[in-house]
Amino acid sequence: MRSPKDFFAPLAVGAPAPVREIPASPSRMIHFFDPSNEKMAAKVPDLAAKTDVLLGNLEDAVRADRKEAARAGLVSIAKATDFGATQLWTRVNSLDSPWVLDDLITLVTEIGDKLDVIMVPKVEGAQDIHYVDRLLAQLEARAGLRRPLLVHAILETASGVANVEEIAGASPRMQGISLGPADLAASRRMKTTRVGGGHPGYLVRSDPAGDDLHSGRTTYQQDLWHYTVARMVDACVLHGILPYYGPFGDIRDVVACEDQFRNAYLLGCVGAWSLHPVQIDIAKRVFSPEPKDVAWARRVIAAMGDGTGAVMIDGKMQDDASVKQCRVVAELADALAA
Ligand code: GLV
Ligand code: MG
Repeated sequence: MRSPKDFFAPLAVGAPAPVREIPASPSRMIHFFDPSNEKMAAKVPDLAAKTDVLLGNLEDAVRADRKEAARAGLVSIAKATDFGATQLWTRVNSLDSPWVLDDLITLVTEIGDKLDVIMVPKVEGAQDIHYVDRLLAQLEARAGLRRPLLVHAILETASGVANVEEIAGASPRMQGISLGPADLAASRRMKTTRVGGGHPGYLVRSDPAGDDLHSGRTTYQQDLWHYTVARMVDACVLHGILPYYGPFGDIRDVVACEDQFRNAYLLGCVGAWSLHPVQIDIAKRVFSPEPKDVAWARRVIAAMGDGTGAVMIDGKMQDDASVKQCRVVAELADALAA
């Protein structure tokens, strides 16, 4: 049995072993664009200045007869654009499609030095990551690339969710995992036709008031994605990679989008996808800790001294565990300020 680190061995004779580094720069929003759409492509330099990650999408939402144009468009945009500190990612076609082999060969050969992360859709298990990992190693060696490309899996099949721990640990190239709620809903035969977010029928109802069973009862919508996001976060933490919420398709419903992103943030996700510039701002706001939370965290850290024991602050007990929670918030604020 090969260990995951064997899949990272350099193919070139005498080459030093490459080191995996998840980019330290933030990735609060992964902004999708269609490189076959000339109007969208023209906006890339502007968007690159606004987003943490820009992703050239080749998979779903690109028509079958536009796949080649999208691939070629991404190559020319990547060559012509200075992305500065913004990371450039791509989402290639799925491993069972007729396009993915050419996607990987072309992108690694032509713009492998510009790309940071390759997002792989519909990952079912570790075998899918092993396949991409070996192919990337061959293509990187042939192209003479010294910096290994990283891999990001979309969790969007029932079998992917069942295998999420092995996917997260399948290769040192793994950068992170995103929830793909649309494909996952279809794979699980859930009865929602929405792309991400909740559903008005998925609710709990308060107890009846008095004898009247139907009046005065409040309903609360529940989070359809709570279980999967929590499971994905645990798998990512276990293997030291980053979890993300995926798409929120109702662009006009900025309130529900913000609520969904915040649920994911509070559960441990570091970012979400953005399908429209308006969602860039939502994700930036949600995935950056609020100043009042940062101030509170710093107060607790200062009061806790060496981080052991217990203190009372504003009537709330703080101890070794709560100071660790506060460090998560303070460290995120420091990383974003750097
Ligand atoms: C994303 O790809 C999704 O299917 O939700
Ligand atoms: Mg999908």
